[in-house]
Amino acid sequence: MTCPQFPAGFLFGTATAAFQIEGGWNEDGKGPSTWDTFTHQRGKIRTGDTAEVACDTYHDLQTDIDLMADLGLNAYRFSIAWPRVLPSGKGSVNAKGLDYYDRLVDDLCAKNIAPFVTLFHWDMPQALQDDIGGFARRECADHFADYAEVVAKRLGDRVKNWITLNEPWEHACFGFLLGNHAPGQRNPWTYFRVAHHQLLGHGLALERIRSISPDVRVGVTLSVSPIFPKTARPRDRRAALIGDQFFNGFYLDAVFKGAYPDPLWSRARLLRPKVRPEDMRIISRPIDFLGLNYYSREFARYAWYVPFVQFWVDGKTTADHETVIDGMPYTSSGREVYPAGLFDCLLRIKRDYGNPIIYITENGAAFTDMVENDRVHDPLRVSYLARYLGEAARAIRDGVNLQGYFIWTLMDNFEWQEGFSKRFGLVYVDFATQRRIIKDSGYWVRDMIRSQG
Ligand code: GCO
Repeated sequence: MTCPQFPAGFLFGTATAAFQIEGGWNEDGKGPSTWDTFTHQRGKIRTGDTAEVACDTYHDLQTDIDLMADLGLNAYRFSIAWPRVLPSGKGSVNAKGLDYYDRLVDDLCAKNIAPFVTLFHWDMPQALQDDIGGFARRECADHFADYAEVVAKRLGDRVKNWITLNEPWEHACFGFLLGNHAPGQRNPWTYFRVAHHQLLGHGLALERIRSISPDVRVGVTLSVSPIFPKTARPRDRRAALIGDQFFNGFYLDAVFKGAYPDPLWSRARLLRPKVRPEDMRIISRPIDFLGLNYYSREFARYAWYVPFVQFWVDGKTTADHETVIDGMPYTSSGREVYPAGLFDCLLRIKRDYGNPIIYITENGAAFTDMVENDRVHDPLRVSYLARYLGEAARAIRDGVNLQGYFIWTLMDNFEWQEGFSKRFGLVYVDFATQRRIIKDSGYWVRDMIRSQG
Protein backbone atom coordinates (compact mmCIF):
# COMPACT_ATOMS: atom_id res chain seq x y z
CA MET A 1 0.00 0.00 0.00
CA THR A 2 1.53 3.35 -0.98
CA CYS A 3 1.93 6.03 1.64
CA PRO A 4 0.53 9.47 0.92
CA GLN A 5 2.92 12.30 1.75
CA PHE A 6 1.95 15.37 3.75
CA PRO A 7 3.64 18.72 4.40
CA ALA A 8 5.99 19.16 7.36
CA GLY A 9 4.12 19.96 10.55
CA PHE A 10 0.98 18.12 9.46
CA LEU A 11 -0.81 16.67 12.49
CA PHE A 12 -1.75 13.01 12.69
CA GLY A 13 -4.11 12.10 15.46
CA THR A 14 -7.04 10.01 16.51
CA ALA A 15 -10.40 11.24 17.78
CA THR A 16 -12.64 9.98 20.55
CA ALA A 17 -15.65 11.25 22.50
CA ALA A 18 -16.13 11.20 26.26
CA PHE A 19 -19.34 9.19 26.32
CA GLN A 20 -17.97 6.57 23.98
CA ILE A 21 -14.84 5.78 25.99
CA GLU A 22 -14.77 7.09 29.56
CA GLY A 23 -17.06 4.92 31.66
CA GLY A 24 -17.14 6.12 35.27
CA TRP A 25 -20.63 7.29 34.43
CA ASN A 26 -21.71 8.16 37.97
CA GLU A 27 -18.40 8.56 39.75
CA ASP A 28 -16.78 11.38 41.66
CA GLY A 29 -19.76 13.68 41.43
CA LYS A 30 -20.51 13.36 37.71
CA GLY A 31 -24.14 14.10 36.83
CA PRO A 32 -26.05 11.91 34.39
CA SER A 33 -26.15 12.89 30.73
CA THR A 34 -29.04 12.38 28.33
CA TRP A 35 -27.02 9.52 26.87
CA ASP A 36 -26.82 7.79 30.26
CA THR A 37 -30.58 8.04 30.48
CA PHE A 38 -31.13 6.94 26.88
CA THR A 39 -28.88 3.89 27.12
CA HIS A 40 -30.64 2.83 30.30
CA GLN A 41 -33.98 2.70 28.50
CA ARG A 42 -34.93 -0.67 27.12
CA GLY A 43 -34.73 -1.07 23.36
CA LYS A 44 -32.81 2.10 22.53
CA ILE A 45 -29.43 0.44 21.92
CA ARG A 46 -29.48 -2.38 19.41
CA THR A 47 -27.23 -4.63 21.47
CA GLY A 48 -28.63 -3.62 24.86
CA ASP A 49 -25.17 -2.34 25.84
CA THR A 50 -24.63 0.64 28.11
CA ALA A 51 -21.52 2.84 28.31
CA GLU A 52 -21.24 2.60 32.10
CA VAL A 53 -17.72 1.19 31.68
CA ALA A 54 -16.98 1.54 27.94
CA CYS A 55 -13.17 1.69 27.52
CA ASP A 56 -12.77 2.66 31.17
CA THR A 57 -10.48 5.57 30.43
CA TYR A 58 -11.87 7.36 33.46
CA HIS A 59 -9.83 4.91 35.54
CA ASP A 60 -6.86 4.43 33.30
CA LEU A 61 -5.65 7.25 31.10
CA GLN A 62 -2.10 6.19 30.75
CA THR A 63 -2.54 2.98 28.79
CA ASP A 64 -4.16 4.76 25.88
CA ILE A 65 -1.81 7.71 25.93
CA ASP A 66 1.11 5.27 25.80
CA LEU A 67 -0.54 3.57 22.83
CA MET A 68 -0.85 6.90 21.02
CA ALA A 69 2.80 7.60 21.69
CA ASP A 70 3.76 4.13 20.41
CA LEU A 71 1.83 4.80 17.20
CA GLY A 72 3.70 8.07 16.74
CA LEU A 73 0.55 10.20 16.84
CA ASN A 74 1.19 13.86 17.59
CA ALA A 75 -2.33 15.10 18.29
CA TYR A 76 -5.41 13.80 20.09
CA ARG A 77 -8.97 15.01 19.75
CA PHE A 78 -11.10 14.14 22.77
CA SER A 79 -14.26 15.56 24.25
CA ILE A 80 -15.19 16.77 27.68
CA ALA A 81 -18.30 15.44 29.38
CA TRP A 82 -20.24 18.57 30.30
CA PRO A 83 -22.03 16.82 33.24
CA ARG A 84 -18.69 15.65 34.66
CA VAL A 85 -17.62 19.27 34.98
CA LEU A 86 -21.02 20.79 35.78
CA PRO A 87 -23.26 18.01 37.11
CA SER A 88 -26.40 20.13 36.68
CA GLY A 89 -25.18 21.72 33.48
CA LYS A 90 -24.77 25.08 35.19
CA GLY A 91 -23.86 26.47 38.57
CA SER A 92 -21.50 24.54 40.79
CA VAL A 93 -18.36 23.01 39.35
CA ASN A 94 -17.32 19.45 40.15
CA ALA A 95 -13.63 19.84 40.98
CA LYS A 96 -12.87 16.14 40.55
CA GLY A 97 -14.32 16.21 37.05
CA LEU A 98 -12.10 19.09 36.01
CA ASP A 99 -9.10 17.45 37.66
CA TYR A 100 -9.58 14.42 35.44
CA TYR A 101 -9.26 16.47 32.26
CA ASP A 102 -6.39 18.43 33.75
CA ARG A 103 -4.47 15.18 34.23
CA LEU A 104 -5.34 14.04 30.74
CA VAL A 105 -3.97 17.25 29.25
CA ASP A 106 -0.80 17.07 31.34
CA ASP A 107 -0.20 13.47 30.37
CA LEU A 108 -0.69 14.25 26.68
CA CYS A 109 1.67 17.20 26.83
CA ALA A 110 4.25 15.02 28.56
CA LYS A 111 4.22 12.82 25.44
CA ASN A 112 4.21 15.75 23.01
CA ILE A 113 0.70 14.97 21.85
CA ALA A 114 -1.24 18.16 21.10
CA PRO A 115 -4.69 18.18 22.73
CA PHE A 116 -7.69 19.22 20.61
CA VAL A 117 -10.62 19.60 22.98
CA THR A 118 -14.24 19.23 21.88
CA LEU A 119 -16.64 20.81 24.34
CA PHE A 120 -19.89 19.22 23.20
CA HIS A 121 -20.02 15.75 21.71
CA TRP A 122 -23.72 15.16 22.45
CA ASP A 123 -23.70 14.22 26.15
CA MET A 124 -26.05 16.94 27.40
CA PRO A 125 -26.44 17.14 31.18
CA GLN A 126 -29.75 15.43 31.94
CA ALA A 127 -30.59 18.21 34.40
CA LEU A 128 -30.50 20.78 31.59
CA GLN A 129 -32.60 18.54 29.41
CA ASP A 130 -35.16 18.23 32.19
CA ASP A 131 -35.17 21.95 33.05
CA ILE A 132 -35.16 23.53 29.64
CA GLY A 133 -35.12 20.80 26.99
CA GLY A 134 -31.38 21.10 26.28
CA PHE A 135 -30.61 23.12 23.16
CA ALA A 136 -34.31 23.29 22.33
CA ARG A 137 -34.29 26.41 24.50
CA ARG A 138 -32.28 29.46 23.66
CA GLU A 139 -30.81 29.92 27.13
CA CYS A 140 -28.94 26.62 26.72
CA ALA A 141 -26.56 28.55 24.44
CA ASP A 142 -25.65 30.80 27.38
CA HIS A 143 -25.17 27.85 29.71
CA PHE A 144 -22.93 26.29 27.10
CA ALA A 145 -20.80 29.43 26.91
CA ASP A 146 -20.52 29.52 30.72
CA TYR A 147 -19.40 25.89 30.71
CA ALA A 148 -16.86 26.61 27.95
CA GLU A 149 -15.45 29.41 30.06
CA VAL A 150 -15.04 27.17 33.12
CA VAL A 151 -13.13 24.60 31.10
CA ALA A 152 -11.04 27.10 29.15
CA LYS A 153 -9.99 28.87 32.35
CA ARG A 154 -8.62 25.64 33.69
CA LEU A 155 -7.03 24.17 30.55
CA GLY A 156 -6.42 27.17 28.30
CA ASP A 157 -2.79 27.53 29.36
CA ARG A 158 -2.01 24.15 27.74
CA VAL A 159 -4.84 23.49 25.29
CA LYS A 160 -4.35 25.66 22.22
CA ASN A 161 -7.02 24.15 19.96
CA TRP A 162 -10.69 24.16 20.90
CA ILE A 163 -13.70 22.72 19.11
CA THR A 164 -17.01 24.04 20.38
CA LEU A 165 -19.46 21.52 18.92
CA ASN A 166 -19.23 18.14 17.29
CA GLU A 167 -21.63 17.67 14.38
CA PRO A 168 -24.57 19.85 15.36
CA TRP A 169 -26.59 18.32 12.51
CA GLU A 170 -26.36 14.83 14.00
CA HIS A 171 -27.28 15.99 17.49
CA ALA A 172 -30.31 17.91 16.22
CA CYS A 173 -31.42 15.37 13.62
CA PHE A 174 -30.87 12.08 15.41
CA GLY A 175 -31.72 13.40 18.86
CA PHE A 176 -34.74 15.56 18.09
CA LEU A 177 -36.06 14.67 14.64
CA LEU A 178 -35.47 10.94 14.11
CA GLY A 179 -35.24 9.98 17.77
CA ASN A 180 -32.57 7.29 17.40
CA HIS A 181 -30.13 9.24 19.60
CA ALA A 182 -30.61 10.80 23.03
CA PRO A 183 -32.92 12.32 24.08
CA GLY A 184 -35.02 10.38 21.55
CA GLN A 185 -37.48 13.06 20.42
CA ARG A 186 -39.18 13.41 17.05
CA ASN A 187 -40.29 16.89 16.30
CA PRO A 188 -39.36 19.00 13.26
CA TRP A 189 -39.91 22.25 15.15
CA THR A 190 -37.51 21.16 17.85
CA TYR A 191 -35.01 20.09 15.19
CA PHE A 192 -34.58 23.63 13.87
CA ARG A 193 -34.51 25.17 17.34
CA VAL A 194 -31.79 22.78 18.47
CA ALA A 195 -29.82 23.44 15.30
CA HIS A 196 -29.99 27.22 15.68
CA HIS A 197 -29.33 27.28 19.42
CA GLN A 198 -26.32 25.01 19.11
CA LEU A 199 -24.85 27.36 16.52
CA LEU A 200 -25.58 30.31 18.77
CA GLY A 201 -23.88 28.46 21.63
CA HIS A 202 -20.88 27.93 19.35
CA GLY A 203 -20.58 31.67 18.64
CA LEU A 204 -20.98 32.65 22.28
CA ALA A 205 -18.51 30.04 23.50
CA LEU A 206 -15.96 31.00 20.86
CA GLU A 207 -15.87 34.56 22.17
CA ARG A 208 -15.52 33.44 25.79
CA ILE A 209 -12.70 31.01 25.07
CA ARG A 210 -10.81 33.67 23.12
CA SER A 211 -11.22 36.20 25.90
CA ILE A 212 -9.51 33.84 28.31
CA SER A 213 -6.35 33.21 26.41
CA PRO A 214 -5.61 35.17 23.28
CA ASP A 215 -3.26 32.59 21.75
CA VAL A 216 -5.84 29.82 21.49
CA ARG A 217 -7.52 28.77 18.27
CA VAL A 218 -11.22 27.97 18.21
CA GLY A 219 -13.20 26.10 15.59
CA VAL A 220 -16.27 23.95 15.16
CA THR A 221 -16.61 20.44 13.78
CA LEU A 222 -19.23 19.84 11.08
CA SER A 223 -20.03 16.67 9.23
CA VAL A 224 -20.10 17.09 5.48
CA SER A 225 -21.33 14.55 2.89
CA PRO A 226 -21.78 15.09 -0.83
CA ILE A 227 -25.43 14.59 -1.75
CA PHE A 228 -26.06 13.19 -5.22
CA PRO A 229 -29.43 12.99 -6.95
CA LYS A 230 -30.66 9.43 -7.10
CA THR A 231 -31.68 9.84 -10.76
CA ALA A 232 -31.23 12.58 -13.35
CA ARG A 233 -34.91 13.55 -13.03
CA PRO A 234 -35.36 17.25 -12.19
CA ARG A 235 -37.30 16.52 -9.03
CA ASP A 236 -34.50 14.30 -7.73
CA ARG A 237 -31.98 17.00 -8.55
CA ARG A 238 -34.04 19.47 -6.58
CA ALA A 239 -34.21 16.94 -3.76
CA ALA A 240 -30.40 16.73 -3.78
CA LEU A 241 -30.10 20.50 -3.56
CA ILE A 242 -32.47 20.72 -0.59
CA GLY A 243 -30.80 17.70 0.97
CA ASP A 244 -27.40 19.30 0.58
CA GLN A 245 -28.62 22.45 2.30
CA PHE A 246 -30.22 20.43 5.06
CA PHE A 247 -27.11 18.36 5.82
CA ASN A 248 -24.31 20.69 4.86
CA GLY A 249 -25.22 24.19 3.72
CA PHE A 250 -27.33 25.12 6.74
CA TYR A 251 -24.35 24.82 9.08
CA LEU A 252 -21.57 25.89 6.71
CA ASP A 253 -23.42 28.98 5.48
CA ALA A 254 -24.39 29.99 9.01
CA VAL A 255 -20.82 29.77 10.27
CA PHE A 256 -19.06 31.25 7.23
CA LYS A 257 -21.69 33.56 5.74
CA GLY A 258 -24.00 34.38 8.63
CA ALA A 259 -27.15 33.26 6.78
CA TYR A 260 -29.27 30.16 6.36
CA PRO A 261 -29.49 29.00 2.75
CA ASP A 262 -32.46 29.18 0.42
CA PRO A 263 -34.52 27.40 -0.80
CA LEU A 264 -34.31 25.31 2.38
CA TRP A 265 -34.84 28.24 4.70
CA SER A 266 -37.96 29.42 2.88
CA ARG A 267 -39.37 25.92 2.76
CA ALA A 268 -38.83 25.64 6.50
CA ARG A 269 -40.59 28.92 7.20
CA LEU A 270 -43.28 27.33 9.36
CA LEU A 271 -40.67 25.47 11.34
CA ARG A 272 -38.26 28.32 11.93
CA PRO A 273 -37.07 29.16 15.43
CA LYS A 274 -36.95 32.74 16.54
CA VAL A 275 -33.78 34.24 15.10
CA ARG A 276 -32.88 37.54 16.74
CA PRO A 277 -31.15 40.20 14.66
CA GLU A 278 -27.77 39.72 16.35
CA ASP A 279 -27.78 35.91 16.18
CA MET A 280 -26.29 35.43 12.75
CA ARG A 281 -23.50 37.86 13.50
CA ILE A 282 -22.63 35.89 16.65
CA ILE A 283 -22.78 32.58 14.81
CA SER A 284 -20.52 33.80 12.01
CA ARG A 285 -17.74 35.25 14.14
CA PRO A 286 -14.61 34.21 12.27
CA ILE A 287 -13.35 30.79 13.30
CA ASP A 288 -9.67 29.83 13.38
CA PHE A 289 -10.26 26.50 11.69
CA LEU A 290 -13.00 24.21 10.50
CA GLY A 291 -13.15 20.65 11.80
CA LEU A 292 -14.48 18.39 9.06
CA ASN A 293 -15.90 14.94 9.68
CA TYR A 294 -16.20 12.96 6.49
CA TYR A 295 -17.29 9.36 5.96
CA SER A 296 -19.36 8.89 2.83
CA ARG A 297 -21.91 10.27 0.38
CA GLU A 298 -25.70 10.06 0.21
CA PHE A 299 -28.25 9.85 -2.59
CA ALA A 300 -31.34 12.02 -2.42
CA ARG A 301 -34.66 11.47 -4.11
CA TYR A 302 -37.92 13.35 -4.25
CA ALA A 303 -40.27 12.20 -1.50
CA TRP A 304 -43.67 13.91 -1.61
CA TYR A 305 -44.56 12.44 1.77
CA VAL A 306 -41.81 14.19 3.75
CA PRO A 307 -43.29 17.46 4.99
CA PHE A 308 -41.62 20.75 4.04
CA VAL A 309 -38.37 19.41 2.59
CA GLN A 310 -39.79 16.64 0.38
CA PHE A 311 -36.63 14.64 0.06
CA TRP A 312 -35.28 11.44 1.47
CA VAL A 313 -31.80 9.96 1.33
CA ASP A 314 -30.37 6.53 1.06
CA GLY A 315 -26.66 6.01 1.08
CA LYS A 316 -26.50 3.18 3.56
CA THR A 317 -27.20 -0.50 3.43
CA THR A 318 -28.89 -2.32 6.25
CA ALA A 319 -26.38 -5.17 6.09
CA ASP A 320 -24.46 -5.28 9.34
CA HIS A 321 -21.23 -6.63 7.91
CA GLU A 322 -18.97 -5.34 5.18
CA THR A 323 -20.39 -6.04 1.77
CA VAL A 324 -20.22 -5.07 -1.89
CA ILE A 325 -23.24 -3.76 -3.78
CA ASP A 326 -23.04 -2.88 -7.47
CA GLY A 327 -19.27 -3.02 -7.19
CA MET A 328 -19.12 -0.52 -4.33
CA PRO A 329 -17.69 -1.67 -1.00
CA TYR A 330 -19.58 -0.87 2.22
CA THR A 331 -18.25 -0.88 5.79
CA SER A 332 -19.90 -2.92 8.51
CA SER A 333 -21.83 0.14 9.65
CA GLY A 334 -23.41 0.28 6.22
CA ARG A 335 -21.51 3.25 4.82
CA GLU A 336 -20.28 3.18 1.26
CA VAL A 337 -16.51 3.47 0.91
CA TYR A 338 -16.27 6.67 -1.13
CA PRO A 339 -12.91 8.40 -0.74
CA ALA A 340 -13.36 10.77 -3.72
CA GLY A 341 -16.07 12.55 -1.74
CA LEU A 342 -13.46 13.72 0.73
CA PHE A 343 -11.56 15.50 -2.03
CA ASP A 344 -14.80 17.03 -3.33
CA CYS A 345 -15.84 18.30 0.12
CA LEU A 346 -12.43 19.82 0.78
CA LEU A 347 -12.37 21.57 -2.58
CA ARG A 348 -15.90 22.83 -2.12
CA ILE A 349 -15.04 24.37 1.24
CA LYS A 350 -11.97 25.99 -0.23
CA ARG A 351 -13.99 27.39 -3.13
CA ASP A 352 -17.18 28.47 -1.36
CA TYR A 353 -15.98 29.44 2.10
CA GLY A 354 -12.74 31.33 1.64
CA ASN A 355 -10.14 28.58 1.94
CA PRO A 356 -10.17 28.25 5.75
CA ILE A 357 -7.70 26.17 7.74
CA ILE A 358 -9.22 22.70 7.94
CA TYR A 359 -8.57 19.71 10.14
CA ILE A 360 -10.22 16.45 9.28
CA THR A 361 -11.48 15.78 12.78
CA GLU A 362 -12.97 12.37 11.97
CA ASN A 363 -12.67 9.74 9.32
CA GLY A 364 -12.52 5.99 9.70
CA ALA A 365 -14.42 2.76 9.29
CA ALA A 366 -15.95 -0.17 11.13
CA PHE A 367 -15.14 -3.64 9.88
CA THR A 368 -15.58 -7.07 11.42
CA ASP A 369 -12.29 -7.50 13.28
CA MET A 370 -11.13 -10.79 14.71
CA VAL A 371 -8.28 -11.67 17.04
CA GLU A 372 -6.04 -14.45 15.72
CA ASN A 373 -2.94 -15.39 17.69
CA ASP A 374 -2.93 -12.02 19.41
CA ARG A 375 -3.02 -10.11 16.16
CA VAL A 376 -5.87 -8.34 14.38
CA HIS A 377 -5.50 -8.38 10.61
CA ASP A 378 -7.68 -5.63 9.15
CA PRO A 379 -6.59 -5.14 5.55
CA LEU A 380 -9.89 -3.47 4.66
CA ARG A 381 -9.25 -0.67 7.16
CA VAL A 382 -5.68 -0.26 5.91
CA SER A 383 -6.89 0.13 2.36
CA TYR A 384 -9.70 2.45 3.48
CA LEU A 385 -7.29 4.74 5.32
CA ALA A 386 -4.72 4.71 2.53
CA ARG A 387 -7.37 5.77 0.01
CA TYR A 388 -8.94 8.51 2.14
CA LEU A 389 -5.55 9.87 3.18
CA GLY A 390 -4.56 9.82 -0.47
CA GLU A 391 -7.53 12.06 -1.31
CA ALA A 392 -6.58 14.40 1.51
CA ALA A 393 -3.02 14.67 0.17
CA ARG A 394 -4.42 15.34 -3.31
CA ALA A 395 -6.59 18.16 -1.94
CA ILE A 396 -3.54 19.76 -0.32
CA ARG A 397 -1.77 19.67 -3.68
CA ASP A 398 -4.79 21.53 -5.05
CA GLY A 399 -4.38 24.31 -2.52
CA VAL A 400 -6.68 23.22 0.30
CA ASN A 401 -5.41 24.50 3.64
CA LEU A 402 -5.60 21.14 5.38
CA GLN A 403 -3.34 20.91 8.43
CA GLY A 404 -4.18 17.65 10.16
CA TYR A 405 -6.07 14.38 10.09
CA PHE A 406 -7.73 12.66 13.05
CA ILE A 407 -8.70 9.06 12.48
CA TRP A 408 -11.93 7.88 14.04
CA THR A 409 -10.93 6.27 16.32
CA LEU A 410 -8.10 5.34 18.67
CA MET A 411 -9.69 2.19 20.06
CA ASP A 412 -12.96 0.31 19.60
CA ASN A 413 -15.63 2.02 21.67
CA PHE A 414 -19.32 2.59 22.27
CA GLU A 415 -20.85 3.33 18.88
CA TRP A 416 -24.03 5.09 20.04
CA GLN A 417 -27.19 3.16 19.14
CA GLU A 418 -25.04 0.30 17.80
CA GLY A 419 -23.47 -0.34 21.21
CA PHE A 420 -20.15 -2.17 21.04
CA SER A 421 -21.04 -4.00 17.83
CA LYS A 422 -19.15 -1.66 15.48
CA ARG A 423 -15.40 -1.60 15.83
CA PHE A 424 -13.78 1.56 14.41
CA GLY A 425 -10.49 1.49 16.36
CA LEU A 426 -6.86 1.31 15.30
CA VAL A 427 -6.63 -0.62 18.54
CA TYR A 428 -8.81 -3.61 19.35
CA VAL A 429 -10.51 -3.65 22.75
CA ASP A 430 -11.62 -6.80 24.53
CA PHE A 431 -14.44 -5.22 26.53
CA ALA A 432 -14.56 -8.07 29.06
CA THR A 433 -10.97 -7.58 30.15
CA GLN A 434 -10.09 -4.10 28.77
CA ARG A 435 -7.14 -5.68 27.00
CA ARG A 436 -5.87 -3.68 24.01
CA ILE A 437 -4.31 -5.10 20.84
CA ILE A 438 -2.92 -2.80 18.16
CA LYS A 439 -4.51 -3.80 14.85
CA ASP A 440 -2.51 -4.06 11.63
CA SER A 441 -4.04 -0.72 10.64
CA GLY A 442 -2.50 0.83 13.76
CA TYR A 443 0.94 -0.40 12.70
CA TRP A 444 0.28 0.83 9.19
CA VAL A 445 -0.55 4.30 10.53
CA ARG A 446 2.62 4.26 12.63
CA ASP A 447 4.73 3.39 9.59
CA MET A 448 2.89 5.94 7.44
CA ILE A 449 3.71 8.67 9.96
CA ARG A 450 7.35 7.55 10.16
CA SER A 451 7.67 7.62 6.39
CA GLN A 452 6.78 11.31 6.11
CA GLY A 453 9.56 13.27 4.42
C1 GCO B 1 -19.50 11.40 14.85
C2 GCO B 1 -19.59 10.57 15.81
C3 GCO B 1 -18.67 9.56 16.25
C4 GCO B 1 -19.00 8.23 15.68
C5 GCO B 1 -18.27 8.04 14.40
C6 GCO B 1 -18.48 6.69 13.81
O1 GCO B 1 -18.99 12.49 15.30
O2 GCO B 1 -20.00 11.13 13.79
O3 GCO B 1 -19.24 11.60 16.58
O4 GCO B 1 -18.86 9.66 17.61
O5 GCO B 1 -18.68 7.26 16.57
O6 GCO B 1 -18.72 8.97 13.48
O7 GCO B 1 -19.78 6.50 13.43
